[in-house]
Amino acid sequence: MGLKEMRTSINDDIEEVLFTAEEISTAVKRLAEQINKDYENKNLLLVSVLKGAVVFLSDLLREITIPCAIDFMAVSSYGSSSESSGIVKIVKDLDIKLTGYDVLIVEDILDSGNTLQYLTGLLKSRKPASLKVCTLLDKPERREALVVPDYFGLKVPNSFIVGYGLDYREKYRNLPYIGILKRNIYE
Ligand code: IMP
Ligand code: MG
Repeated sequence: MGLKEMRTSINDDIEEVLFTAEEISTAVKRLAEQINKDYENKNLLLVSVLKGAVVFLSDLLREITIPCAIDFMAVSSYGSSSESSGIVKIVKDLDIKLTGYDVLIVEDILDSGNTLQYLTGLLKSRKPASLKVCTLLDKPERREALVVPDYFGLKVPNSFIVGYGLDYREKYRNLPYIGILKRNIYE
């Protein structure tokens, strides 16, 4: 690897910043405030979907002031990494039994909706006390499955976006903001 390549910044691959770290933080705080109200006197369990949602979860979690538990699932959808195929495979299942918990699925982005449709169906079958969905980002133009998020933070256009946990081929998750990836990177 040459010196020039080593100095390359992941920021150079971003076409446009959609949301700054500050704008994301405002949205996360607003969501947490609502969750704090809605889940008071409930038995909240945040179920996060690896890996994209971990950055959002870790920020959201620290704005939640009521008692809550967390758990993780890993799923993979078959097909290329920039298109969702609708076929979902569980790579890592939850550790916690859902009985008696008010489960809130915490997702990074709701795109086609196929992942969340599958997950809500699966978790519902385990009979939690309640089940809702919280997504930081919503890309409504691409929706295929009928999934309506109970909580959503920010609406995004129909472009491939990265940062704040979201990746393209495992890269860009560490960007503190959310931006549109340059087309020449994935085309
Ligand atoms: P869905 O099943 O099409 O709703 O896609 C859900 C998953 O696809 C998300 O949890 C992301 O991991 C991934 N995804 C969808 N759109 C994007 C994007 O624009 N950038 C990065 N990942 C995305
Ligand atoms: Mg994801």
